[in-house]
Amino acid sequence: MIILGINDGHQASAALMVDGVLVAAAAEERFTRHKNEHGYPRHAIAACLKLAGIEPGDVDHVAIATRELPPSYFMIRRDSDFSITDFWREQTDYWYPTLYEGRTLSYAEVFKDKYRPENFVYDRSLIRDDRDVAGMQAARKKYVRDAFGLSESQVSFRDHHACHAYYGLLAVPEDDREFLVMTADGFGDRANASIWKGRRDQPLQEILHTDQCHIGRMYRYATLLLGMKPAEHEYKVMGLAPYASPEFSQNAYQVYAETLQVEGLDFVYKVRPKDNFFHFRDRLAGQRFDAIAYGIQRRTEELICDWIGNAVRATGLRDVIFSGGVAQNIKANKRVWELDLVNDIFVPPGAHDESLSIGAAYMAHLLDGDCTQPGKFANAYLGTSYDTDTVSRFLKHEIRDGRFGVRQASLLDVAKLLADGCVIGWMNGRMEFGARALGSRSIITNAKDPDAIRKINMQIKMRDFWMPFAPSMLAERAQDYIVNPKGIDGRYMTMAFETTAQAHAEIPAALHPYDRTVRPNIVTAADNPTYHQLIREFEKLTGVGAVLNTSFNLHGEPVVESPADALSTFERSGMEHLYMSGWLVSKKVAA
Ligand SMILES: [Fe+2]
Repeated sequence: MIILGINDGHQASAALMVDGVLVAAAAEERFTRHKNEHGYPRHAIAACLKLAGIEPGDVDHVAIATRELPPSYFMIRRDSDFSITDFWREQTDYWYPTLYEGRTLSYAEVFKDKYRPENFVYDRSLIRDDRDVAGMQAARKKYVRDAFGLSESQVSFRDHHACHAYYGLLAVPEDDREFLVMTADGFGDRANASIWKGRRDQPLQEILHTDQCHIGRMYRYATLLLGMKPAEHEYKVMGLAPYASPEFSQNAYQVYAETLQVEGLDFVYKVRPKDNFFHFRDRLAGQRFDAIAYGIQRRTEELICDWIGNAVRATGLRDVIFSGGVAQNIKANKRVWELDLVNDIFVPPGAHDESLSIGAAYMAHLLDGDCTQPGKFANAYLGTSYDTDTVSRFLKHEIRDGRFGVRQASLLDVAKLLADGCVIGWMNGRMEFGARALGSRSIITNAKDPDAIRKINMQIKMRDFWMPFAPSMLAERAQDYIVNPKGIDGRYMTMAFETTAQAHAEIPAALHPYDRTVRPNIVTAADNPTYHQLIREFEKLTGVGAVLNTSFNLHGEPVVESPADALSTFERSGMEHLYMSGWLVSKKVAA
């Protein structure tokens, strides 16, 4: 059975499942080059079908993630189109008059400058007005039915949080444990958290569905308060938090601590704020930026630990799967696995809304498909790839003027450049799923070089000065660098760990510069053999079994998808070399 999963909300994406095997998945932003792309993911769908050699007419079922999305959500694409100023304006010009002055405003009117009806693909005749969710659902369904020639029953909608939960269940390494599956995010289908239990390849049993878990929203507006982009830059707040002095950050922490609480398996308020922005802005006035970051981060860690801890106690299940946007908080995840009562926690790659398409597809397979076929998620390398011949043809065509050196290169050649401290754009194999680069679309360099951070920041990434980089490390060497007594899955950069003295000595540039924790991409030969071999070659030369790894993109752009994207990024940055499927492009002739 061929099932296509679609997320047509923000972080739009598509996923293709054939007889239970996830054969392809990709985010729409990679193809449109518009970060967090929103709406019907036509390019991602086309890419997934092409990867699997499947025609649209072969698709048996389309599962659409998230039942309820209002038309205004598609017309004003807040999470992909808004600037930080727009998000601020949303608070001052819409929410403040609405919540504090009792005025009735039209969101579409306030943001008429952001109205983009030209990209609205659905049949408007089915939609009554900007708030007509039922009409919008009918239009979404009709569009998909027409596109794939499907009957009424061959297109389904899947609950937002169920999609998060089932994605986690599919991606967890295969075994027969019974898992506690938990989800938390900003909001989707009238909920912001859920708790389930079950085994892989069996329908989950729902324990709780709640709209009272406001962690994601509190964090989102703390991010805005600090002048960063909500639903995108939360990781920067998390990265900033360790720099604060706990002693001088108590007041900021208390502002967050006196509101949301965990009670049993759900959440309650001690002091219920009127909103998640002005309430905190007013009470945090005069608090320093790093103290605010500390306050929201510490409170988030406490709430998540309390909540998951209570669920473990209530169910007796100590193996946790955590999915949804809040599960991207790697420091909170670290606190969870450090709890004595937790045996294991798994967070899948791309746990934010980009993976809803995968969850939707797996739900359709497991609940309505042929359940005798077990679900299969081999690893995160689910996207497009470009082989040596394709790259060769591309380079011959694009670099006719000899402005760069182009030659075939071995992994040893690349390893030597890394050992010399060069910064290399690395594109090889199938594109990884999710926002984190896992060695298919990465910028890599020698993590031993303390100057590497400054070099990458100045020449390429222009990242915020406090943000850490991360390593890709050989699985065989992970125990030399990270403290992981419970054997937590650290392949996907979804977990944080304390580090060893050897890590401090050998890969200092890939650790958090202040607290020396690390968010690793642990590389196995099975998952990514070429990348694994590259790090092996580097290890032979240097003794270090890890490299600094950061996503292959410029600031504010999606990660590169194609050779054209990679070359464009290479040209517009200070990167010295670009490796693509066996070919090396150099700004200076490589030694
Ligand atoms: Fe979500």
